[in-house]
Amino acid sequence: MKQFTSVQDVANLQELVNEALQLKQNPYKHKQLGENKTLGLIFLNPSLRTRLSTQKAAINLGMNVMVMNLDKEGWALETQEGAIMNGTTVEHIKEAAAVMGQYCDILGIRSFPKLQNREEDYSEELLQQFIKYSKIPVVSLESATRHPLQSLADLITITENKTAGKKPKVVLTWAPHIKPIPQCVANSFAEWMRKADVELVITHPEGYELSDEFTAGATVTTNQQEALEDADFVYVKNWSSYNDYGQVLTEGEGWMLTEEKLQRSNNAKVMHCLPVRRNVELSDEILDGSNSLVLEQANNRTFAAQAVLKRMLESLDQA
Ligand code: CP
Repeated sequence: MKQFTSVQDVANLQELVNEALQLKQNPYKHKQLGENKTLGLIFLNPSLRTRLSTQKAAINLGMNVMVMNLDKEGWALETQEGAIMNGTTVEHIKEAAAVMGQYCDILGIRSFPKLQNREEDYSEELLQQFIKYSKIPVVSLESATRHPLQSLADLITITENKTAGKKPKVVLTWAPHIKPIPQCVANSFAEWMRKADVELVITHPEGYELSDEFTAGATVTTNQQEALEDADFVYVKNWSSYNDYGQVLTEGEGWMLTEEKLQRSNNAKVMHCLPVRRNVELSDEILDGSNSLVLEQANNRTFAAQAVLKRMLESLDQA
């Protein structure tokens, strides 16, 4: 595996999930694989789970890890080709990424969208420039449009919790929030579930349609109660509007998931990528209840990252 930025980088989802589950059973089995190899983790936005789980995954594989909060600790980056850098930017991504590529064997990048210009965000310019100029394998730690390590952890969690022999009904439901949130997690979850062996239903208020690129083939409805009928898994997430880009169109009254709403489900397990705003996105009763998978998802972030890094290390060995 040369890069991991979307589900398109995975030839066989089930094999990758199985590999992650094997690593979960025996995390230190491949401790020699990462010897004398360095992972650089570059953050342009905050993180708890991604930062710690990816470090842990790398350490489990015997790698050295360097972490940099580039937005706070690095020079202000320029990304425009041909820019006359007489303003606030100090270093061009051409040099910055190339230097990181010299220090590291694999690079992880977190860069959220600005939610101001859809075309700009959806071009994934920053991630693509890191890939181009670092010249080493790059793993997305959440980009402008996707969060593939989260989606892999989500699929691992569903695999562990589903009923054997039954194709699970998985519902992605929009939830209220107090500020504009990127579409990344929802896009990515939809993209991964479409390739997995599940029935995917997406429900959201009018105006929160995601790009067809991620949802084509899924059932999409604005009727949340209907969507929740017989659900086995309910994935709760807020996102801002894609069509009215980055806007919050409604306060989402009535959209927070509650135990009462889940009565019509198939005793559904409830998922959220975290961090979660309690009693805004999801009620205390659900988060503290026995059907919540949120901590299992967070735990599986380590083994998702470990499976991906293991494949990248194996590719380095073959190069
Ligand atoms: N789910 C997730 O990516 O968490 P962090 O933003 O804390 O890394």
